[in-house]
Amino acid sequence: MSKNSDKLDFISEALAQRKAEHRFRELVRVEPEPQGASIKKEGKSILNFCSNDYLGLATHPKVIKKSLEYARRYGAGSTASRLVSGNFTIHEELESRLALVFDVEAALVFNTGFQANATILSTLADRNSLILADNKVHNSLLQGAILSRSDLQRYDHNDYLHLEKLLEKAQKKSYNRIWIVSETVFSMDGDQSDVKRLIDLAEKYDALLFSDDAHALGVLGEKGLGLNYGKKGIHVSLGTFGKAFGAFGAFVACSQQLKDYLINFCPGFIYTTALPPAVIGALEASLELIPTMDAERKHIYELTQYFKKEIQQSGFETGDSNSQIIPVIVGDEKETISVSHQLENNGILATAIRPPTVSPGFSRIRITITAKHQKEDLDKLLRAFGKRK
Ligand SMILES: Cc1ncc(COP(=O)(O)O)c(C=O)c1O
Repeated sequence: MSKNSDKLDFISEALAQRKAEHRFRELVRVEPEPQGASIKKEGKSILNFCSNDYLGLATHPKVIKKSLEYARRYGAGSTASRLVSGNFTIHEELESRLALVFDVEAALVFNTGFQANATILSTLADRNSLILADNKVHNSLLQGAILSRSDLQRYDHNDYLHLEKLLEKAQKKSYNRIWIVSETVFSMDGDQSDVKRLIDLAEKYDALLFSDDAHALGVLGEKGLGLNYGKKGIHVSLGTFGKAFGAFGAFVACSQQLKDYLINFCPGFIYTTALPPAVIGALEASLELIPTMDAERKHIYELTQYFKKEIQQSGFETGDSNSQIIPVIVGDEKETISVSHQLENNGILATAIRPPTVSPGFSRIRITITAKHQKEDLDKLLRAFGKRK
């Protein structure tokens, strides 16, 4: 064996182990189909139940038109970071409009939700801080917490008595600040946090609150503006544009002072090229459309209720899901993959979610319901699942 192959053995060993555990991840190649809720896989049209494009805005004619218009007018790229020469009027206009629509003092756009979470948290906390994160927060928030070198403690999922115990204990220590970190709609379980209760706890213990609204935006809350909307006492409210906005990027809603601080100190904002004009155009259009889409939200809600009731009657558990994300819990990893294949053989694409994304024994098929689905699509999905043996 050459010296070089020794050094790289960790790669082949890790991959072999992943395969043995049925946890090996592979890319799936698909082609979008602008009409309906299907996509093309290996030349065949297949019903898509894994899209986060909840309102169908990724293919909305007004969104595409504005995106093309901005690309033609301002070019394909923004050519530099915001602090250099990439801060076009359109970036600032988008932020002003976001602040206005979401009724907050300021908004700052980031290139992705992952980048925002990983770098904002690590900018706002340091080795003398404490981060109390819900046990099920998204990996990007954990990366932010780890990068900050803060004391990271996890509270049991949505267990506010546990959170309060940790907050009480923390009062005896000399942390410079305490962050509570949660999502509003949890990405793998579709259940919700109690934002009001988190705000109250943050106030009671003089802590700060970081609430990630990625999966509620567009779908839940007044005018689809999410579950953080209208609530005072959230220090960082994060929204993403890759899901219901149908485009790409993210934003933080915060105070003007916090925005200024991030512009000055947040590496994930400072050292990266600004979002391209085509994306800004799409976002302008989506932002205008989202508050007007109550009919689509009602449709999603009705489909969700229907699917949950029927799949539970077929003997499957869906946890505490209370949104358009519905986990159909299978349990065992190998069995979950086989259910996912069974769905695919019946013309349905739905991702198998396995550890380490979820805890061992809780592997699942994650179903997302969008405005483009129809009741017949759900009936097809229900038939493909069949009865739980
Ligand atoms: C809760 C949550 N936050 C953040 C992100 C990351 O957002 P983005 O896809 O824009 O990087 C995701 C996406 O998977 C998410 O589910």
